[in-house]
Amino acid sequence: MKRFFRANGAHRRIEGWPLVFTILTVVAILVGTVVEFAPIFLVGGAVQPLATLEPYTPLELAGRDVYIAEGCNNCHSQQVRPFQDEVMRYGPYSVAEEEVYETPHLWGSKRTGPDLARLGGKYPHLWHVRHMDNPRSTSPNSIMPPYPHMLTKPLDLDAIPGKMRGLRRLGIPYTDAQIAGASQSAQAQAREIAAEVESQGGPGQLADREITAVVAYLQRLGVDRARALDPDLDRAEPDVEAHEVEEVYDTMLDPGDEPPLLEPPVSEVPNPTTNLAP
Ligand code: HEC
Repeated sequence: MKRFFRANGAHRRIEGWPLVFTILTVVAILVGTVVEFAPIFLVGGAVQPLATLEPYTPLELAGRDVYIAEGCNNCHSQQVRPFQDEVMRYGPYSVAEEEVYETPHLWGSKRTGPDLARLGGKYPHLWHVRHMDNPRSTSPNSIMPPYPHMLTKPLDLDAIPGKMRGLRRLGIPYTDAQIAGASQSAQAQAREIAAEVESQGGPGQLADREITAVVAYLQRLGVDRARALDPDLDRAEPDVEAHEVEEVYDTMLDPGDEPPLLEPPVSEVPNPTTNLAP
C-alpha cells in the first residue's frame, strides 16, 4: 500500500491519466451508492405497520398537504427520540412501525416549535383554530407566525381523490370505495369538526375552510400509536377531559383582547449562578 501512494507509485501514475482517473472515480462512487441504497430496498417490507395503523382520512390528508404547503415542518419535528427528556415532554418515542404510511415523512430536523408527533387530543379543536388564527392568543409570547387565511380560504375537495390515487401507487392501501367517497367523507368529517368548534364557542361556518382539514390532521397525530399502547382509546374522541377543556379555555384570550405583558427581559431575570460558591 505504501508503494502504491509513493511519489512514483501506481496512484500517482493513475492520477496522471485524467480520463482513466475520472472513470475509476465514477465507478467508486457508483459502488458506494449501490451499497448505501441496496438495504433500503431489501428491507422495504421488513417493517410491518402497527396493527392499529390506518391511512389518513381524506380530510386529514388535505390537512397534511396544507401543513406541508405552509412549511410547518420547517419549525416542527414529528419524531420523538428515545431519550428520557423527550419521552417525559412529548410521550412515547417514535417507532418505524407507525411511519409506514408517512409519504413523504415529516420527521423534520429543526424544532423552533415543539415536536408534534404526539399532538392528537392534547387540545380541543377550538384551541387549534384560535392558535392558527393568532398563536399569541393561546400561547403568550409565541414566535409562531399567524395563519389567519386558513379560516377564510376554501378547502379544495376536488383535489383529494387524485392525492389518494397517487399515494395508493406508493403503497398506501386506499380502496376504490374510499377514493370514490373521498369528497363526501371529507365533508362529513369537516362538518363534525366545524360543529364542535362552534359548540365550544368558536366561529361558525368553518366546515368548508382549510382550517378544518388542518385541525383534523393535527388531532390525528400520534393517535394510532396511542391506540396501539391503549386499545381502549377511542380513535374518534380526542383524549381531552372536560375539565381540561375548561382549563385550556381559561388560558385563551378572546379575539381582540390585548396579549398579557411579556415576561421580564432576560437581563432582569436573576442569574442563578451568581450565588454559587466558586
Ligand atoms: C417560525 C417557526 C414556526 C412555524 C413556521 C410554525 N410554528 Fe407552530 N409553533 C412554533 C412555536 C415557537 C411554538 C410554541 C409556542 C406556541 O404554542 O405558539 C409552536 C406551537 C405549535 C403548536 C402547539 C404545540 C403544543 O404541543 O403545544 C401547534 C399545534 C403548532 N405550532 C402547529 C403549527 C402548524 C400547523 C404550522 C404551519 C401552519 C406551524 N405550527 C408553523 C413555531 C412555528
